[in-house]
Amino acid sequence: MCITRSVDTVCQILKGKMITLSLVLVLITVQWSWAQEDPLLPFSEHLDLEHKVQLKWGFDEIRDTILFELTFNTVGWVGFGFSPNGGMTGADVVIGGVGPKGSYFTDRHAVGTSMPLVDKQQNYKLLSLTESDGKTVMKFQRSISYCDENDLPITELPMKLIYAYGETDEITYHGNRRGTKELNLLKYMPQSNPPNSNFFDITTVNFTVPANQTYHHCKVMKIPTFYHKKHIYRIAPVITNVDIVHNLALYRCPPSVTEPFEADCYSSSSRPNLCIEVVAVWGVGGLGYEFPEAAGLPIGGNIKASFYKLEVHYNNHNLASRVDSSGLRLHYTSELRQHDAGVLITGLAVAPGYAIPPKAKSFLTYGLCDTAYIPKVVEKSNDLQLFSVMLHTNLVGRKVRVGQFREGRQIDFVAVDENYDFEYQEVTNLGETKTVKLGDKLLVECTYNTEKRNTLTWGGFSTSDEMCLAVLFYYPAMNLSTCVSFPNTTTLISEMGAKDPDTWLKMMSTKTWTDTSINQYQQTLKRIDQIVQVMNSTNNISINTGLIPDLKAIPSAPCMNNTAQALH
Ligand SMILES: *[C@@H]1O[C@H](CO)[C@@H](O)[C@H](O)[C@H]1NC(C)=O
Ligand SMILES: *[C@@H]1O[C@H](CO)[C@@H](O)[C@H](O)[C@H]1NC(C)=O
Repeated sequence: MCITRSVDTVCQILKGKMITLSLVLVLITVQWSWAQEDPLLPFSEHLDLEHKVQLKWGFDEIRDTILFELTFNTVGWVGFGFSPNGGMTGADVVIGGVGPKGSYFTDRHAVGTSMPLVDKQQNYKLLSLTESDGKTVMKFQRSISYCDENDLPITELPMKLIYAYGETDEITYHGNRRGTKELNLLKYMPQSNPPNSNFFDITTVNFTVPANQTYHHCKVMKIPTFYHKKHIYRIAPVITNVDIVHNLALYRCPPSVTEPFEADCYSSSSRPNLCIEVVAVWGVGGLGYEFPEAAGLPIGGNIKASFYKLEVHYNNHNLASRVDSSGLRLHYTSELRQHDAGVLITGLAVAPGYAIPPKAKSFLTYGLCDTAYIPKVVEKSNDLQLFSVMLHTNLVGRKVRVGQFREGRQIDFVAVDENYDFEYQEVTNLGETKTVKLGDKLLVECTYNTEKRNTLTWGGFSTSDEMCLAVLFYYPAMNLSTCVSFPNTTTLISEMGAKDPDTWLKMMSTKTWTDTSINQYQQTLKRIDQIVQVMNSTNNISINTGLIPDLKAIPSAPCMNNTAQALH
């Protein structure tokens, strides 16, 4: 390390050498340990302790499909399935292999501890079955839901997975070549244990919780300084009062934030809220969040943003005076991963010129991210590989959908939550690593219910205001912070027949909102030109215009209903 000034020059030379050397090492490492990831199979687990059976999987909830790839250390038959209780009875299984007469693969169900019976309807689709180097690799797809009574649906709860295999292709009793593992396939979170790892905490310290029903505490603090870059790979809760801590959020502050402070998040005297890049959230019942193997959140080295904001939401029902030290534990490793992870906020710009009428059963708002403008503010721009998302509205949000458009056509949904609940927000892993090519548009649609409100709900940062955001986690990271839009206020005011902002404001707040007028206003907001903007991490903005495209439903893949063929 270079500590004193007098040896600076020597240090520079040494650093230069070290950089060259580590570059060479990095290149060598890439060769063997960063095998190309399959974006359709982002998750991986060994099903047994001896690591003879490996499962990789990925899914698409919109199209209702789930993809599996199993690698067994055998050249005999292989079996895998889902079991109600961990045993054979009632299990939904597939058996396959590569035998002397070619490959075989069948969808079966077990009625007891005997050879599983072949289903009348074959609902699993074999994609490939290969045998080499003493291993059998079987890749197949099925519906997440189920197609006949012999198949089990895949749910968002932990499921018991069973496997068995033989030493030959004669399907006989497997002996001890079998096992069970419980995994939550659709809400999976890895639990890695990288070498050279450590952690630091961002917590409140002996904070006296006010005797309020609900209170949001904000603490902005500097994280430890690291001379060399590290990667944060896991963010886990540290809760000292489980009965009153309701949820936590961690935000990264821009480099312009350089002073720590602590205050009520929503008091009027609070400082402007500059730290809006959500990097982690935790809610009652939740566990930690972990980044995928290929990426980590960079800290230290020459990363300028080193202040983070912790927000703790307390629900102090008994109104007792309590002392709390809850927060988050950030686990990091110096074993750098292949990519720096980035966080990008997309959706509707958070600003007060946007109002949601009261008494609306389902009011739609839209925010557009046009990635074509990213290169205008980011020197080295690249496509985004999305792996996680956090959808965010405040109290009256009910649904959030994020559509992806390429060359004017909707190609996918990045994320959909049809049952959004402000109290249970989480960062969820996408079932596939999704590529957003520069030039693609991302449309965030939020649905609100304001039936219980009597006045307008404005866009803003307080919980009683509203937002419509999708926070995207992606790699490789760019110096990018937001990609949002806002309806052109000048157009809106004239479309609504007001002569200036003041008359418009008065008109909005005195209007009698009926289903018809709500609907008209909603359509106007969507139809008019939008100001679309992309902001980089040093707050430089590129401002352009755009229009809101239509979101279309994407049909789910039909069940694969093949009648069972004669077995080989
Ligand atoms: C927090 O309170 C505990 C118990 O009173 C005390 O031991 C500890 O030193 C306090 N921590 C700090 C950082 O003040
Ligand atoms: C942000 O954009 C401005 C203007 O294009 C540019 O000068 C600056 O270097 C950019 N900052 C980063 C971190 O890329």
